Amino acid sequence: MTVAPARVAPAPLGRITGDPMRPLPFAVRARRSESPATVSIEVEPVGDAIDRPAPGQFVMVWAFGVGEVPISVSHVDGHRITLTIRSVGAVSEALVSHGVGEVLGVRGPFGTAWPVDAAAGRDVVVVAGGLGLAPLRMAIDELVAGGRPARHVTLVVGARSPDQVLYPAAMDAWAEAGASVHPTVDTAGRSWHGAVGTATAQLERLAERHELAFVCGPELMMTSAARSTVALGTPADQVWVSLERNMHCGVAQCGRCQLGPLLLCRDGAVVRWSDAATLLEVRGR
Ligand SMILES: Cc1cc2nc3c(=O)[nH]c(=O)nc-3n(C[C@H](O)[C@H](O)[C@H](O)COP(=O)(O)OP(=O)(O)OC[C@H]3O[C@@H](n4cnc5c(N)ncnc54)[C@H](O)[C@@H]3O)c2cc1C
Ligand code: FES
Repeated sequence: MTVAPARVAPAPLGRITGDPMRPLPFAVRARRSESPATVSIEVEPVGDAIDRPAPGQFVMVWAFGVGEVPISVSHVDGHRITLTIRSVGAVSEALVSHGVGEVLGVRGPFGTAWPVDAAAGRDVVVVAGGLGLAPLRMAIDELVAGGRPARHVTLVVGARSPDQVLYPAAMDAWAEAGASVHPTVDTAGRSWHGAVGTATAQLERLAERHELAFVCGPELMMTSAARSTVALGTPADQVWVSLERNMHCGVAQCGRCQLGPLLLCRDGAVVRWSDAATLLEVRGR
């Protein structure tokens, strides 16, 4: 099997540290609760900055004295980056507990990016499940408003319940910019006016054929959504997914993130579905 990862060379944003293993101090400048257990923090370099992250790239984030985890960059504003973090364990809980002014460590950016340039003038569907909208946020911003926007963007956003839907203001802005936005939740009360059901079910209800697809979310959801886009006519090598694995070094040295021939910190997290499908099948056996 030929695997053609989408390597990216991010445009420099500030000074390059030269040592990708050295975390740089970043101070929390703002924090916002997104949903129960999920917080967005805006962090800014105290000294040296990192390269400008491309849409879909991640950084390794240190909660000093606790540990380091990979987190996707959901927004960039000058030297400031936004990280949307769900508390699931010791490190993520420590990170979401950081208050304004507190300092954490950041190194990166690492990994591949959503191929936003390939979307210019094409019909694109973006499918996000839960926290999967965070790594897609910058890509959607560029798809609807970038220098070379897509012809049309359809956005399907799945969440467990209405209070788990991320970035409602951004979704309004994407809709105003011309995207067709379809939020859907697993369960809802009477105040919910969107769809009910999974993101994949919503995709199948729409029954549209798209030329390019970006899909991100929990692995089972991503697998079913990617298969549906292919069944609806998107070529498998034009469907891109983001694969999460435990990571340690972030620089293709420790092997912790290996999936078949890929080291996902370098060759992912964003990969073509035509490559990922086989690897996930082998892994699942
Ligand atoms: C490339 C990449 C990008 C990521 N981006 C984000 C992001 O933007 N925001 C964010 O909140 N998280 C993101 N994650 C996941 C995040 O790194 C983990 O949630 C974190 O490592 C958990 O560490 P912990 O010490 O808090 O919990 P741990 O003690 O390590 O884990 C606690 C529980 O969570 C489960 N868990 C751990 N990692 C994951 C995971 N990746 N998916 C599902 N369950 C998991 C464990 O199995 C365990 O049951 C990303 C992961 C990768 C690989
Ligand atoms: S995290 Fe070490 S090789 Fe990928």
